[in-house]
Amino acid sequence: MEVVLVGLPGSGKSALGKRLAERHGVPFVDLDAAIEAAAARPIGDIFAQEGEAAFRAREAGAIVDLGPADRSPGIQRVVASGGGAIVEPRNRWRLFRDRRVIWLDAPAERLAQRVRHGPVRPLLCGRDPVDALEALRERRARFYAAGTRLVADGSRTTGLEAIEQLLAEDQEAGTRLLRAQTPIGCWELGAGHAASASRQQIRALGSPRVAVVSEPVAWRLHGERLARSLGEAGCDVEHVLVRRGERAKTLRGLEMVVRALAERRFERRDAVLALGGGAVGDVAGFGAAVYLRGVPLIHVPTTLAAQLDSSIGGKTAIDLPEGKNLVGAFHQPRAIVTDLELLASLPARERRAALGEAVKMAALGDEQLFGLLEREGAAIAEGGPDAFESGAVAELVERCAWAKIEIVLADEREDDRRMALNLGHSIGHAIEAAAGYRGILHGEAVAYGLRGALAVGQSVGVTPRDRAERIESLLASLDLGREPLTLAAAGVRHHLAADKKHRDGRLQWVLATGDGITVSDRVADSAVEAGIAAALAGAR
Ligand SMILES: NC(=O)c1ccc[n+]([C@@H]2O[C@H](COP(=O)([O-])OP(=O)(O)OC[C@H]3O[C@@H](n4cnc5c(N)ncnc54)[C@H](O)[C@@H]3O)[C@@H](O)[C@H]2O)c1
Repeated sequence: MEVVLVGLPGSGKSALGKRLAERHGVPFVDLDAAIEAAAARPIGDIFAQEGEAAFRAREAGAIVDLGPADRSPGIQRVVASGGGAIVEPRNRWRLFRDRRVIWLDAPAERLAQRVRHGPVRPLLCGRDPVDALEALRERRARFYAAGTRLVADGSRTTGLEAIEQLLAEDQEAGTRLLRAQTPIGCWELGAGHAASASRQQIRALGSPRVAVVSEPVAWRLHGERLARSLGEAGCDVEHVLVRRGERAKTLRGLEMVVRALAERRFERRDAVLALGGGAVGDVAGFGAAVYLRGVPLIHVPTTLAAQLDSSIGGKTAIDLPEGKNLVGAFHQPRAIVTDLELLASLPARERRAALGEAVKMAALGDEQLFGLLEREGAAIAEGGPDAFESGAVAELVERCAWAKIEIVLADEREDDRRMALNLGHSIGHAIEAAAGYRGILHGEAVAYGLRGALAVGQSVGVTPRDRAERIESLLASLDLGREPLTLAAAGVRHHLAADKKHRDGRLQWVLATGDGITVSDRVADSAVEAGIAAALAGAR
């Protein structure tokens, strides 16, 4: 086992890490010290002379140099991470996987006292240290919280003993990469942690019973094992299977869920755990929203689309013959347990299609996500083991899901900012509807819809040509929205008229700008026609 200590400046990572390693006679790596040694300068000088970006690059390099963790029993090595190294998804992927992570925490006043006497801390320079540390904690807590939190505000000796005690406890299975406690649920991202994290969440809810709602494929591949593991840990688990895919999202599907809960006499505190893709999440989530006027919900998304998008944000719905998602509710999950290992069994087409939503998130103005997709999107779409092992999939899911969380936190009910998430969805949804929801996956339709929205945006003069070209070439590199569609433009136009994003009878178009989006309800019919034609034409 290897131990990683994370925490704010002054939390004692270096001092405690060194003593822990000495006590066990194993190597100690202080990442900041390793960077200073390699650069032959203190960190303050590296910051001053090269800037923060260059320091972060050195930091990432030092983490790569650690290599894979030694998983032999007993402590084999202790690593003290730099305070900010864990902000980068890739650093956490490399540092936290297969290692035991401990978050050393202490009140900001205590941390400030300690850093007063230490070396220069560039991020605290010139600021009130307590305020600066509080602000850093707020920004980084979700990353530190991937580890087990230990409040280390006493002496070094008591800190060391507390660490030893933690290490003596059994390690939970899997890796946690992030744990964000937000008003729209606790989001836990990791790999191989679905069972342990679900168990902890159920325990935290105090739910005596849990109903795993799933569909036959996700249940067979992942659900049975998860339910068994929850049962072995003492949870009282039932399961309910709905139909696969969109066929689950019907009044009949909803009835199956809520009647199964009623037959089993589920009560208010009992929880629903939705295990599956977006379809399961939608119908199980709606069931949880309306059964007994609302019971706690945990999402365990098993498709890429659900991990990076649909499990976040609290929208639940079923379809009617008159249209998709017409009946639903906002019902925020208490927790979202996103286990990247569940994606290993996902069909290639499902994985690729989900990238349509990822491109949309990038097009909203996320330059880091854009870069990631341009560099590694094709490898992620191919689904080879490298994309997983390199941490590209983890970074993709984290960036997309966190961006969505931030948007939803700002506008839960889609009165304003959340509208942005509809980029590409007006024509995309109309294409899905015109195709009768057959033969085209949601993410694939979004890719065509994005092409359409780019054409509309150019027609009305808000989308610069170079921006449109960049998004289009990204879609092409991911092999999305390329082949022309044989749908009739009139059919797509007809379904656009039924779009939910109408306000006062006018469709609210989300259109790309040079670096983000704008919303407009002043789009001429000729621009709409151009958009539909461009979408149906695919890659030109
Ligand atoms: N609530 C929201 O905010 C929101 C957002 C976007 C989309 N959605 C909804 O999500 C649905 C689409 O979700 P989806 O793309 O996840 O599709 P899905 O739920 O239909 O699942 C796609 C397929 O993948 C299979 N599958 C699931 N997990 C698997 C795994 N780990 N390995 C192998 N196969 C697996 C399923 O059996 C299914 O056949 C749509 O109904 C859409 O309306 C909801």
